[in-house]
Amino acid sequence: MSKQSTLTSIDVGTTKICTTVADVSDGGDIRVTGVGVTPSRGLHKGLVVNINEAKEAIRESVRKAEQASDFKVESAYVGVTGRHINSLNNRGVVAITRNDRLVRRDDLKRVLQCAQSVNKIPSDRKLLHVIPRGYVIDGQMGVKNPLGMHGFRLDVETHVITAAVTSVQNLVKCIRGIGIDIDDLILEPLASSEAILTEDEKQVGVILADIGGGTTDIAVFKEGSIWHTSILPVAGYQLTRDISVGLGLPFDVAEEMKKRYGSVMPVYESKVEPPPTITANGHGVSYQDLCDILRARVEEIIRLILLEMPNSGYETLVPAGLVLTGGSANLSGVDALGRDILQLPVRVGVPAKMYGIADTLRDPAYATSVGLLLWGAKYQGMQRWRSHRFRVSLRRLVFRIRKLFR
Ligand SMILES: Nc1ncnc2c1ncn2[C@@H]1O[C@H](COP(=O)(O)OP(=O)(O)OP(=O)(O)O)[C@@H](O)[C@H]1O
Ligand SMILES: [Mg+2]
Repeated sequence: MSKQSTLTSIDVGTTKICTTVADVSDGGDIRVTGVGVTPSRGLHKGLVVNINEAKEAIRESVRKAEQASDFKVESAYVGVTGRHINSLNNRGVVAITRNDRLVRRDDLKRVLQCAQSVNKIPSDRKLLHVIPRGYVIDGQMGVKNPLGMHGFRLDVETHVITAAVTSVQNLVKCIRGIGIDIDDLILEPLASSEAILTEDEKQVGVILADIGGGTTDIAVFKEGSIWHTSILPVAGYQLTRDISVGLGLPFDVAEEMKKRYGSVMPVYESKVEPPPTITANGHGVSYQDLCDILRARVEEIIRLILLEMPNSGYETLVPAGLVLTGGSANLSGVDALGRDILQLPVRVGVPAKMYGIADTLRDPAYATSVGLLLWGAKYQGMQRWRSHRFRVSLRRLVFRIRKLFR
């Protein structure tokens, strides 16, 4: 029989805060029972800049999700982003000294610890993830799961991600401040890729770019493992600001124009002649000007994403191309523009791996929210379920002992 545990994710984005409650089975099926979305406050480019405002916005989002799901949120998987994130690929080596030379769980722990300690993490950085990318046993490369194999020497290739302690502390303070524990802090592009990428794409080599409101979160996969992660401090907010400044419009009108009419490939897309002038809230601007401004900034973002790749030969590193997600991937024509620049496949990724009351979540803007749940289900959901079972059994035992004495 499939076991279920209820998980919660909180995506504290620059534009919106989204709390999602879902029942997750040990097979990874996600049945969404409640979603709470509120506009963000107290955040800038993915970072908390006003703790009280951010805390209240998170509280509101959690309250909405609790009401919808009729579930009291006690802990959650939380996404982390921002310019303060650093990542590097590292290596660790240990000897298997036991007589049978069998690789056990302990050896995996030891070799991962060794990979962390190669470059000492300074006290102002917090270790977020140490992800094994692949193992080598006695020189034999490409081992994905070395448990149960025999060898003298075990090497591991890891991807290590660290964050600024202070930025993480501010986020944690907001969440704990409303009485919610943190199950795990997860780098947002890693979460998004759980919801958006296929195993094939990860195997062949692919770039995922989550273009949100304040940041563009990048994750590159190769041979089924993470290869590179990075956060760029430019996204949808800059697109709106360019329109606002360029066309002399108030920010909210520029935002509406962008969402309602914006396109980055107007020439290719429009089968009918586009209107020369478009209007919103009593303001009229040239359609061509709007699209030209958007196109210039999106082109810049795509080129910045490409700069994260090695100088030459990105075509061989990521033949599966670029997968765009995040709210700004809703912009009409981004995939066509991406294909023009990269000369590789480019698609827009929408989260799909869930059922229940999940309609709101079927939008690129919710890739991180859904991905956080999938990450939780994959790595810790069942661990939490087991510890929950353990706590329940312990409580029952204490109850029986008390009854005995009474
Ligand atoms: N149809 C649309 N066309 C163009 N842009 C859009 C559209 N819908 C949403 N956006 C933009 O998407 C952005 C919000 O995306 P998202 O919800 O992914 O951001 P976020 O998660 O809150 O922020 P971040 O991840 O950067 O901290 C906003 O800038 C918004 O203008
Ligand atoms: Mg986001």
